[in-house]
Amino acid sequence: MNILVTGGAGYIGSHTCLQLLRAGHEIVVVDNLINANEEAVRRVQKLAGKSFPFYQFDLCDGNRLDEVFTHHTFDGVIHFAGLKAVGESVSIPLRYYGNNLNSTITLCRVMARHNVKRLIFSSSATVYQPGSPMPVNEDAALGCTNPYGWTKFMCEQILRDIAAADPTWSVVLLRYFNPIGADESGLIGEDPSGIPNNLMPYITQTALGRLEKFSVFGDDYDTPDGTGVRDYIHVVDLAQGHMDALAYATQHTGSVAINLGTGVGYSVLDIVRAFEKVNDVKVPYQIAPRRPGDVATVYADPRKAKQLLNWQAEKNLEDMCRDSWRWQSMNPKGFAEA
Ligand code: NAD
Ligand code: UFG
Repeated sequence: MNILVTGGAGYIGSHTCLQLLRAGHEIVVVDNLINANEEAVRRVQKLAGKSFPFYQFDLCDGNRLDEVFTHHTFDGVIHFAGLKAVGESVSIPLRYYGNNLNSTITLCRVMARHNVKRLIFSSSATVYQPGSPMPVNEDAALGCTNPYGWTKFMCEQILRDIAAADPTWSVVLLRYFNPIGADESGLIGEDPSGIPNNLMPYITQTALGRLEKFSVFGDDYDTPDGTGVRDYIHVVDLAQGHMDALAYATQHTGSVAINLGTGVGYSVLDIVRAFEKVNDVKVPYQIAPRRPGDVATVYADPRKAKQLLNWQAEKNLEDMCRDSWRWQSMNPKGFAEA
């Protein structure tokens, strides 16, 4: 298939591009590099042994996007582009609403104009109302605690409405849990700019010695060891989920929301211990107060992905820890090194 990948230079997008190329698909990437480095695109091309068109511009620019759709024929779009830092979204909400909603609306307008109506959207477990029973399934109540989450909630609603109004659309809303890990090559991986937001980049940067120690946010949660429990999923498994969602979208119209998680929850200390053991490195940490907005436990009910997509996570926690560390230790400064 010919696939447009928006945000394809980013963490999840780059891994998905690689998998699409390896499976024989043709891709075109649009990314404004606001949170990515063009080196990721070069490395994906190198790993796949295949080049593809890369356009650097803001997806909110409908004219530029229209030109891309005029020059290429697409069977579908995987839409990763978006801003994703929860804390930043609380400080600068307009930027988040502006970017994430406008880019999605502009994309859908251009798609409709060119009669491309197959879309895989990056949603998030963050759309589930805090306090939902775990494991959380796709029918749980929705509701968010920060502007980033609301942008995902609103984009989901916009896409459901588009699919309801025009039954020729096919939309798959993939609700990711906590992606970590990297391609086995160690050549691509998560490269957060500035101070990381998420657990694994903190752990890898502490293991490198770039950070003296990292803070475990709370050890008094109602969990087996008191630290927060999440559903960590290997980014390569996540990428495969997009391929399976694309295949599903070629057979079905309408809209559907699907969790991509493992169904298994690990605590912060489980992750630290597994990381230290599998990589034989020390990760000094301190117990710090709870981070505002965090909940004790989030993990997926992954059965719908199995039923509809025949997808399930294959990689385990050791794989995730080993591959995250290989990427970080081979690229201590991320893509900036290149
Ligand atoms: P990322 O920041 O690495 O990738 C997003 C990419 O989109 C970046 O390369 C960025 O430069 C690009 N981008 C942003 N706004 C753009 C715009 N207006 N025009 C063109 N390009 C733009 O993030 P990621 O971790 O790969 O996440 C991909 C998607 O998955 C995002 O939509 C994110 O919200 C969602 N998601 C991520 C997680 C996670 O923990 N990583 C969890 C759930 C959902
Ligand atoms: N944590 C620490 N120390 C840190 C960073 C995180 O103890 O330095 C803990 C958190 O308190 C939490 C766990 O590690 O218990 C995971 O935290 P992350 O920030 O890595 O991930 P979150 O579960 O908070 O959120 C992530 C993404 C969201 C996405 C959500 C989906 O950041 O965008 O997963 O479940 F919506």
